[in-house]
Order: sequence, then C-alpha cells, then structure tokens
Amino acid sequence: MAPAITYRLIKEEKHTGARLGEVTTPHGSFLTPMFMPVGTLASVKSMAPEELKDMGAGIILSNTYHLWLRPGENIVKKAGGLHKFMNWDQGILTDSGGFQVFSLADTRNITEEGVTFKNHLNGAKMFLSPEKAMQIENDLGADIMMSLDECPPFFESYDYVKKSVARTSRWAERGLKAHSRPEDQGLFGIVQGAGFQDLRTQSAKDLVSLDFPGYAIGGLSVGESKAEMNRVLDFTTPLLPGNKPRYLMGVGSPDALIDGVIRGIDMFDCVLPTRIGRNGTVMTSHGRLVVKNAKYAEDFTPLDDNCNCYVCRNYTRAYIRHLIKADEMFGLHLASYHNLYFLIHLMNQVRQAIMDDNLLEFRESFFEAYGFNKE
Ligand code: GUN
Ligand code: ZN
Repeated sequence: MAPAITYRLIKEEKHTGARLGEVTTPHGSFLTPMFMPVGTLASVKSMAPEELKDMGAGIILSNTYHLWLRPGENIVKKAGGLHKFMNWDQGILTDSGGFQVFSLADTRNITEEGVTFKNHLNGAKMFLSPEKAMQIENDLGADIMMSLDECPPFFESYDYVKKSVARTSRWAERGLKAHSRPEDQGLFGIVQGAGFQDLRTQSAKDLVSLDFPGYAIGGLSVGESKAEMNRVLDFTTPLLPGNKPRYLMGVGSPDALIDGVIRGIDMFDCVLPTRIGRNGTVMTSHGRLVVKNAKYAEDFTPLDDNCNCYVCRNYTRAYIRHLIKADEMFGLHLASYHNLYFLIHLMNQVRQAIMDDNLLEFRESFFEAYGFNKE
C-alpha cells in the first residue's frame, strides 16, 4: 500500500538546515516550507476557498475538538468528509484536540486512558482518548491527522514532563493502531518534552520508532522566549528523519517562521494572520501596522507598498481603516486576506532563498526592514 503522505526533498540550503521539498497528499501537493492558514471551524475566518487557492495555500488546518463539538463529526462524515463539506479540494490537516482541550476546556483530568473535561460551549462532561480522536479524525477525513498528545506548560517540572512524554508516546502508538484509513489519511506523531533536551530526544526516539509519515514539534510558542524556542529546535529537528515532513505547531510570526526554516522545519500553522487582521493590525515588509489608527485616516496608499496581493492592488489604508472603524465586515476580510498572503508570500521568498543559497542574507534584510533587529 502506497503511503497517503509522501515527502520529496528537492534541495538543501548550503549554509543552514533549511530545505526545499514537496509534500504530496491525496488532495494534491504543496511545496515546503509552507505556512498553513487555520480554519478551526471548517472555515478560514472570512476567507472563501477560492481566495485561499488564488494566493497559493495548498493546505489548511482544521480542528478535531471544535468540529467534534459543533456540528459533530457525524454530520461532516455524512456530507462526504471535510473537503466536500467546506468545498476545499486541496490538502487539509486536522489537529487532534489535545492542545485545544488543554487551552479551552475547563476542569480537565488526565489519565492513562485519556482526558476528561467540560467543553467550553455548554459545560458538558466529555472524554477524549487516542482512539476517540482517531475515530473523529477518520470521520472528518483530512489528509493529515495529528496524534492525541499532551502539551505541558513550557516551565512544567522535569518529573511531570517526563511522565507526560512517555504517556504521549503510548497515546501515539494507540492512535496508530486505531487508525482505520491509512490508505488515504496520514497520521503524524507530535514530539513533546518542553525545554528538556533528553526528554525531547526520548520523545523523538519513541515516535520515530513507530514510523509515522511525518512528525510535528509541539509544546512551543506557549509563552517561552524566541531564543528558548530556537534552542529547542536546534537539538530537536536533527532527531527527525530527513525523508519525512517536519511541522512546527502553532507558530506564525514572521521571525519565528524564518528561524524555524533555518533549523529544518517544513510546515507551520498559526491563527496570527487572521486574528490580528480582525483586530485591525496588518503585517507589512516594514513591520506591523495598526491600520485602525487615526494617522491612516487620509493615507491613500496600500497597506504595504511591496505587496502585490489583491487588497494592496485595489484598496487604501484610509478605506480599510474606515471600514474597520465602522464595523464593516469587509474591512476585517481585507486585513485577513492581506495578512495570509503576506505569510504565504514570505514562504515563497524563503523557498527562493533556499534555491539561491542566500537564506541568511534574506533573513538579515527581512529582519532589518521589519524591525526585528531592534527588539
Ligand atoms: N498546536 C500548537 N501546539 C500544539 C501542541 O503541542 N500539540 C497539539 N496537538 N497542537 C498544538
Ligand atoms: Zn497585500
């Protein structure tokens, strides 16, 4: 049986750990490094699938936890799966629900069997196990599914993280056994271990021995510094096989994307572009811009003079500011559109820099213009 998800290495950058590659899924392929827009509830907030496709998003992320609660995976299954349900014919990845249970739900209780919690919508008591997560993810039918994991706080004690990592490994093995559609869905394992090198090493070893078609690094971007995150990536990414994709979960600020790529990461996801967009903030080649601010009231230039997106070709800061101030939905849509394009285009530039073996020079000039060097 051919694996559902395959990775082809195209080129390694000469001076860093960065690599250009291609991931093939049952719904087409995409080049890596790639940024995946987040569509938590089977919709990338305010964005039509055609718009995402136009800007080059080859894969989006959705959430098991949210779709399980609403509308229920049975309804998505009846619709013919998530691709049909939301009219998206490219790649989809579903997160397992582990992270969301820990970040959204109340009164969790975690045992070997799974995690009991009260859901954040109506407080009903629910139970998620590796087998249950797999059943839901199989019913949703995404191309890439994530194992149920525990994402402990970054500064949790060594003893706790050690126990947690061992349990996450056992959960990964149980998920693999319960996975009923290996022919058209690939299951990824998630490396945990907080900031502890030996625990990250053990976690990676456990998961690699289970031979997943791809590996994620979890438990990062949860409040630790950028330097801490890079330190963990420095020793974790090399533990993962070179012939499989590597996914850094929940990371989406431009500096962290570039620094992750330099350390060998292929895939990223984050709500950042759509969340700050809805808040009236945009990313530009000159740094973040709060377009809501009064100083843009009469600024008839585009959000970013270096951006070639649909929004920047057609609309001004003054107009978008007006829409957002007046609570017009279109304003939030335009800001989200530009932000998603910005990160997807950033990954295009990063892939070109890998081809040209000048990623460090690209990093330097991007950081300088964005203002990261001043932080
Ligand atoms: N999203 C961001 N971080 C994580 C993580 O550690 N685990 C999971 N399942 N999802 C995430
Ligand atoms: Zn733009």
